[in-house]
Amino acid sequence: MNSSKLRFTTGMLLRMGADAVMVNAALLTALALWFMALVITQDGANAGVIFRSMLDHFTSAAWPLTLVCLVLFYFSGFYTYGRAYQSRYKALIVTQAVTQGFLAFGFLSSFFGGAGGGFMLPRSALVLAWLFSLLLLVGSRVWTTLWVKIVSPERAAIEAKRGRERTVLVIGGAGYIGSALLPKLLDKGYRVRVLDLMIFGDEPVERILNHPRLEIRRGDFRHVEQVAEALAGVDSVVHLGAIVGDPACNLDEELTIEVNLTATRMIAELAKAAGVERFVFASTCSVYGATTETLDERSIVRPISLYGHTKLASERVLLDMATERFAPTVLRFATIYGLSGRTRFDLVVNLLTAKAKIEGKITVFGGEQWRPFVHVDDAALAVSTVLEAPQAVVANQIFNVGSNDQNYTIQEIGELVHQCVISADLILDKGDGDRRDYRVNFNKIRNLLGFAPRWTVRQGIQQVLDAIANGDVSDYSDPRYSNVKFLREKKSVARDNWAQELVRVIASQ
Ligand SMILES: NC(=O)c1ccc[n+]([C@@H]2O[C@H](COP(=O)([O-])OP(=O)(O)OC[C@H]3O[C@@H](n4cnc5c(N)ncnc54)[C@H](O)[C@@H]3O)[C@@H](O)[C@H]2O)c1
Repeated sequence: MNSSKLRFTTGMLLRMGADAVMVNAALLTALALWFMALVITQDGANAGVIFRSMLDHFTSAAWPLTLVCLVLFYFSGFYTYGRAYQSRYKALIVTQAVTQGFLAFGFLSSFFGGAGGGFMLPRSALVLAWLFSLLLLVGSRVWTTLWVKIVSPERAAIEAKRGRERTVLVIGGAGYIGSALLPKLLDKGYRVRVLDLMIFGDEPVERILNHPRLEIRRGDFRHVEQVAEALAGVDSVVHLGAIVGDPACNLDEELTIEVNLTATRMIAELAKAAGVERFVFASTCSVYGATTETLDERSIVRPISLYGHTKLASERVLLDMATERFAPTVLRFATIYGLSGRTRFDLVVNLLTAKAKIEGKITVFGGEQWRPFVHVDDAALAVSTVLEAPQAVVANQIFNVGSNDQNYTIQEIGELVHQCVISADLILDKGDGDRRDYRVNFNKIRNLLGFAPRWTVRQGIQQVLDAIANGDVSDYSDPRYSNVKFLREKKSVARDNWAQELVRVIASQ
């Protein structure tokens, strides 16, 4: 189960309804066979009595069996947004849940289902109903998976043949991930529109500014009119815009909620109303919080920061809005490293590397916390992979973005940096570090979408070292490389309504 709260969307209710129909059809078929077998063995005698008994069995057993099965299916994750069973394990998990459902029903009926109007079923009918339910429930899921695999790529191929140019709106596209993503989308032939306040200036996108298929709109995604205008003629939305990182989000909690959550809901509602089918949302593995387990998309989420909470709440808002024609996909990025048009030096790999090279010191705080990592270029690759994937495979899905072999403790990251800058001192400060601590499983994105990162952390460290050596990065501590420093600086410009002031300051850049 993903959350301690029960939540039902229209899609979930429809799937539950379909499962209920299948369980009841299986029960009725099993009882009909039981009836025929009895009539045959008794040479047709008492056929009327047996028929009435069959109907009695069905009417008394159908509702408790359905209820028990649906509850077990729900808690096995069949309907929750984190259901990640589109893999080869799917048949196994469905088999297990159906079997548990029938065992629980059998157990209950032996207690409450005796004579006098209970819901005890003949054993042979119960076993047959279990078998038929298995066939129907597993079969329907296998069929859906096959349908998606066969039909969706064919549709995509037909669309591509028609030569339709697809337009993507990238909200927050001039940031760290966005500036790595835009060239990839342009290379794939997309028409790309960016809606961004450009708070870090034009520099992140300056290399592609004159691309004929790129349109940059400087605007605030909290404003309905600006978002509505930006959505005109768009097929897909990638929403990267946010106040990013725990320290930056803590500067002004109200503004963080407005930017990270309220605006996300508004953008998604407008996109849905405008007929946009694909909506890719940038979330974070920070939603997992602090835990000793290795977590996948179905694990319990326990964010420990405002940033994580706003991202998790946004995920839920989006996934609750999913319909046949509106397909949100949530990407929970690992912690990012490496260079892009807007490199950040407030993230652990880049920061430790720059400090090692420039200050000759690698200070690791805490050190035992686990964290998954992914290169910024691979994060961008994941977004474009999702946009290219058959819609039915990614619709209403959550994917962790990274790879199993890039889970490291912060101390291990310090040691990797030290191996690359051997002259630097590695200082382990066992005092307070960042409390986030999680190891993440990335099988789902690899198995379903074939996504595998191309970069390793060591290569990312080397990339940063080369940029420093070439003079591409001179002062890594400049506020433009750090979200919290940058926003703190702008905040001090106007204490009263710094958000408005930020917009004014930026607009005059
Ligand atoms: N960088 C990471 O390690 C990381 C990890 C996990 C998830 N993410 C998520 O990925 C997304 C992108 O992260 P990033 O590192 O590229 O962030 P970033 O801060 O570099 O980029 C955010 C962009 O959003 C824009 N923006 C902010 N508020 C805006 C507003 N009101 N209107 C218009 N534009 C606005 C900024 O100008 C900036 O270009 C975020 O949603 C973040 O939560 C990032």
